[in-house]
Amino acid sequence: MQHSTQLRILDELFEMLDAGRTVDAGQQLLNPTSAYTDPALAAQEWQRFFREHPQLIGLSGDLPGPGSYLTLDDFGVPILACRDEDGRFRAFVNACRHRGTRLTEDERGEQKRFTCPFHGWTYATDGRLLGVTESEQFGAIDRNCHNLIELPTAEQYGLLWVHPQPAASIDVDALLGGLAPEIANWHLGDRVHCGGRSLNKRMNWKLANDTFGETYHFARLHRKTLNNIFNGEALSYETFERNHRAVFPARSMTRLRNKPRDKWSVNGSTTVLYYLFPNIQLTVSDRQVTLFRIYPGGADASRSVTWMSHYFSQAALDLMADGSKTVIDDSNIYSREARDGNAIVTPEGSMEIIDSTLENEDYRMGETTQQTAESGLLEHIVFGRNEAPLQHFHNTFRAALDMPPLRSS
Ligand code: FES
Ligand SMILES: [Fe+2]
Repeated sequence: MQHSTQLRILDELFEMLDAGRTVDAGQQLLNPTSAYTDPALAAQEWQRFFREHPQLIGLSGDLPGPGSYLTLDDFGVPILACRDEDGRFRAFVNACRHRGTRLTEDERGEQKRFTCPFHGWTYATDGRLLGVTESEQFGAIDRNCHNLIELPTAEQYGLLWVHPQPAASIDVDALLGGLAPEIANWHLGDRVHCGGRSLNKRMNWKLANDTFGETYHFARLHRKTLNNIFNGEALSYETFERNHRAVFPARSMTRLRNKPRDKWSVNGSTTVLYYLFPNIQLTVSDRQVTLFRIYPGGADASRSVTWMSHYFSQAALDLMADGSKTVIDDSNIYSREARDGNAIVTPEGSMEIIDSTLENEDYRMGETTQQTAESGLLEHIVFGRNEAPLQHFHNTFRAALDMPPLRSS
């Protein structure tokens, strides 16, 4: 993020904290709970946002070198993504051209070629069919017509995109809606993948997204956890077409008041959170990035899967290794050093903070909302003036499906 943008955001947050105000959408909006339960809507979302829309599947560091690969199965097409011998990012349907078997079930790894576990056909990392087992007995086959089915890909600003439709194309700048220069400035392509996990929940995918749509809940829900480190009372918020950026202060932000402005930085003093349409939440700092990919359970309105992936800068990894900074693991995540912004959180520590908040606190709220919504007795819920990201997220997906915007009363 450009320094001038950082200063503007930090000034806004200080002004908000001093004035006791936060983001103000200007009105409340009513969201019908059918948004979380309607099977016809779920089917439409699944088709339009997942089966027919470009998908951000990771950062460049997920595929660190030629031969590295990962598999995904979250948006209706089994994906095998890899770097070919020349380092080019490619994605294929993870299916052998003989009988359609998955070439690998591994989540990620490194291989020079892919050998099908069923009968042993082999493929290069650029998708070419290299070998047919016992080809004389199998019979003649035109190898050129039996390469892996390739999908459109784009690798830009350190982001890996795949389109699940072979004939489609991907325009990353258009997808970022004006955020491209800012995203480029974070140098996401240099981050090292350090771990991740998934949460499979009985909760609509939009309820999972809603968790990230306001900081109004910090002081109550996260009283004993996140609220120790972050301050939910101020939120800097800006939209970029279908996407948005939300920044909230760390408790340690007040330290900046004693520093010259040219040393001010959002790094270590705030959390910067991007929402990228339709299903991505991304927290970014110069040391650490966490990518949340949120998927519906197919066309099932009541289920979702959230994948969390953690990345660190090499500089942060070096600092952890040399011991000159406090390194926070799962046992001291809410330590004084963390509150003061004087520590580096490890992947394990980061996953712990997410476990203790996202799964046990935030998603627990979403699961209960899902149950209430399914009872049919709660017609709508209310998005407050201070829940602007929630309002934007819901109105954005509604507009994309030609639905009317949420009404205010
Ligand atoms: S299904 Fe892959 S080799 Fe037979
Ligand atoms: Fe939360």
